[in-house]
Amino acid sequence: MSGKIFVDACKGKETPYTPVWMMRQAGRYLPEYMAVRAKAGNFLNLCHDPKKACEVTLQPVDIVGVDAAILFSDILVIPDEMGMDLSFVKGEGPKFSDPIKTQEDLDRLIGGKEAARKLTYVYETIELIKKELDQDKALIGFTGAPWTLATYMIEGQGTKTYNICKKMMYTNPRLLHNILAKVTEVVKIYMEKQIEAGIDVVQIFDSWASAIEPSKYNEFSWSYMVEIANYLKSRHPEVPIIMFPKGVSAFVEQGLVYGNFDVFGVDWGTPMAMAKEKLGDRYVLQGNMEPCRLYDKKATTSCVEAIHKTMEGKRHIFNLGHGILPDVPVENAKHFVSECQRVSAK
Ligand code: CP3
Repeated sequence: MSGKIFVDACKGKETPYTPVWMMRQAGRYLPEYMAVRAKAGNFLNLCHDPKKACEVTLQPVDIVGVDAAILFSDILVIPDEMGMDLSFVKGEGPKFSDPIKTQEDLDRLIGGKEAARKLTYVYETIELIKKELDQDKALIGFTGAPWTLATYMIEGQGTKTYNICKKMMYTNPRLLHNILAKVTEVVKIYMEKQIEAGIDVVQIFDSWASAIEPSKYNEFSWSYMVEIANYLKSRHPEVPIIMFPKGVSAFVEQGLVYGNFDVFGVDWGTPMAMAKEKLGDRYVLQGNMEPCRLYDKKATTSCVEAIHKTMEGKRHIFNLGHGILPDVPVENAKHFVSECQRVSAK
């Protein structure tokens, strides 16, 4: 036993109750987060400041009572350090001033070890968190999936239609594969360095998985994540890997999700019972309350009870089926966490 119930649960071991955390748990719904962000000046400064990033990482553990902390950073620091100029425009989200259009644009970007080496502030943040975090809590490190990162690198910002990157998928798949391969090389080393700095568990966010038609998902996203997992498992087999692909229930239904991962993150659009039937033997399942249920305590409790009834306290980690939203009352987030711990206590 690791002494951390979250890590034990990731490995499918019996735990005294089902551990819980929330995607995007360190963020704007917490007034304490807003205060630290104000001191930092803006969000990116906060990511670049290990002391402040450590402080906001620990807030949800102390305030909301989750069983694991997730490193405070962003998936987009990777393309930023590859040489794409990242900014966050107020009210509009992330922006890259010079999106990738050609092979020459891609060739200009820094790759592999050199890019991963520039993310030192992330490794320093991890080292600080490990000193401060209670021994029985786990620290989750993370990356974006190459596909999800590539959508921002090609579109230059968030998108509803993904038309620029999907145009590339069908008209110039070679360039898209070259982008994905270059990002994959950086991610492998970046995650290896996060592990060496002290993270206990890895989560890969494929937040925009649903933009790809099911028959193309393996080729343009899943296979790259399998490559990352195989690399990490060959070096650090003891570190569990959580795979969270958002919006791929058709892919789950076909049972096409083989890979060297320990935990499969189920999004809120995929019924937990179906995920259990198709994937429950292969993976520990994480999830999957619809995040908007957090607006109402009764809606939260009934969902937590239903998920627990399906999973029976076995091979399960409680979470939301996507990130918590900024206008959720802190009280309700606390209620979710304590209800998960209450219903599953053995
Ligand atoms: O608490 C945590 O989960 C750790 C920190 C974390 C952030 N971003 C902080 C953040 C994590 C794990 C992420 C991942 C991330 N970033 C994803 C994948 C997860 C998901 O929700 O699907 C994606 C797609 C991004 C890219 C990103 N970063 C967007 C689209 C935005 C703007 C939209 C938004 O939610 O505000 C961000 C900014 C961001 N990342 C904030 C935080 C706390 C808000 C910044 C602020 O105004 O303080």
